[in-house]
Amino acid sequence: MQPPRQLRLSQSTALLALAVSLTFPFSSAAEPMAADLAATSQALLARKQKGQGFPDFGFMVSQEEYATKWSDQPIFRLKTDFPKKLPAELPAFLKKIDFQKNPLEYILAIRDYAFEGNLPDWDPFKNKVREWYHIPWLHPTTTGPNAYPPNGGTEGFHGLIKEAPVTPEQLGPYQIGKNGNYSVYAITLVNDFAGYAMGKMWADPENPDPKATDKRFGGGFPVGTVFAKLLFTDAPQGTDKIAYLENPLTWKAYITQNFWLSATREVTDVHLLQMDVAVRDARAEGPGLTGWVFGTFVYNGQLNHRNKFMNLVPAGLTWGNDPENRVNKTNPFPPTKTMVNPDLKQTVIFDGPQLPPQHLGWNGRLNGPADLNTTSCMSCHIAAQYPAITSLVPDTAVPDGYTEPPLAGGTDAWMKWFQNVPCATSMDPRAYSTDFSFQVAIALTNFFNVKSANARGAWASDYALPVKPISRGRPHP
Ligand code: HEC
Repeated sequence: MQPPRQLRLSQSTALLALAVSLTFPFSSAAEPMAADLAATSQALLARKQKGQGFPDFGFMVSQEEYATKWSDQPIFRLKTDFPKKLPAELPAFLKKIDFQKNPLEYILAIRDYAFEGNLPDWDPFKNKVREWYHIPWLHPTTTGPNAYPPNGGTEGFHGLIKEAPVTPEQLGPYQIGKNGNYSVYAITLVNDFAGYAMGKMWADPENPDPKATDKRFGGGFPVGTVFAKLLFTDAPQGTDKIAYLENPLTWKAYITQNFWLSATREVTDVHLLQMDVAVRDARAEGPGLTGWVFGTFVYNGQLNHRNKFMNLVPAGLTWGNDPENRVNKTNPFPPTKTMVNPDLKQTVIFDGPQLPPQHLGWNGRLNGPADLNTTSCMSCHIAAQYPAITSLVPDTAVPDGYTEPPLAGGTDAWMKWFQNVPCATSMDPRAYSTDFSFQVAIALTNFFNVKSANARGAWASDYALPVKPISRGRPHP
């Protein structure tokens, strides 16, 4: 469905993205910063001057504007002091709770583990309980005619990466949308087990090693890995209403005015919509399985907990794509009632009075409100690889939200995206697996794009494989 895209560079734009990403030193903004941040800024500056480490973010208001208008807001710092040794102790829930027998207990334990020490700022530097990290190289935008997302990359308040558009009525019947669409922005923390694998990949920040997440080379995220990702949206605006986003948890973010049409970024309120988690669990390994468990939570402001993070209610847990089930059904937009498919054996939906109506994924597989109704968490994440030569979604999966199920739904070609691919194994053996992590796939793509641009040339190998945008689908009309 996507025209194949060469990994060819619009060199000047890639260079520009790099230049933009490097123009925000911490030194001169020291005055309005908190003392601890000022101290760290010295260390960060020293690191930058020596050409070590990674840029923290890609897009931010000017230092002057920050100082005069936004100095009460955080400045995002990337945490990449990855551990050199595999952590000794697995997260307790991995030993205590069986995800198939007690899926609800399991997902709540993941939530508690992810929240511990990370609330309310989701800043791993402030976590006194355990170490969490970020994945580097998400700061620049991708470039070129099919670049996705348009004008992407991370912003400088919270490190939010531009992620996906919101289609009209995707979030509910009174979400009409705006010209160019609302957006979803996200920020992921990775625990120490994941950090160990990232330490191997990025041991030399100038020479990342894609083998670190590919089983054929002894790589992969170790059992015990936990990812926790917060998703925010600039919806609703104007007369739009989304009941479950009332009493919102709101951050300020430096984002584009709309998803598709505008390159101009502005400081805008974004509201917590969803939390995604992914766990490498040994009990999810085996013939026909993946080794991963994915789960999602949805924000329900009607619960109005004092700690607004507790308004996130579990929506579902999945450990596979149910590859045998070819029934071609979708729940169209707007979602008014959650339709649970009792035939699925590898997905549990926690339907109940606290869960706002969900469109879910293809034939009831797990997907959150920010995701397509024609795919699933797993169907997309099995395609994580570098270079990105496999599309993230099957042909006809977009546009989503149609009243009719996707044209190709259930065909052999379609079902390729609904297999259970084992962890650290690429769907296409010509590419390295990034072990279900799209952040890693994006990071490597960004890194090598900028490297080629800096060298003012391309490598023949760039032309060997046709690369697809790491995109959830077709561009806006
Ligand atoms: C259409 C494709 C698609 C679907 C469907 C999808 N994701 Fe993702 N996911 C991505 C992409 C692309 C990223 C990387 C960008 C980012 O960080 O937001 C990502 C990032 C993540 C991350 C951060 C770890 C990483 O590097 O991949 C987690 C955890 C995650 N998704 C979980 C989920 C869960 C849970 C679901 C289902 C509720 C889901 N995803 C559905 C494409 C998808």
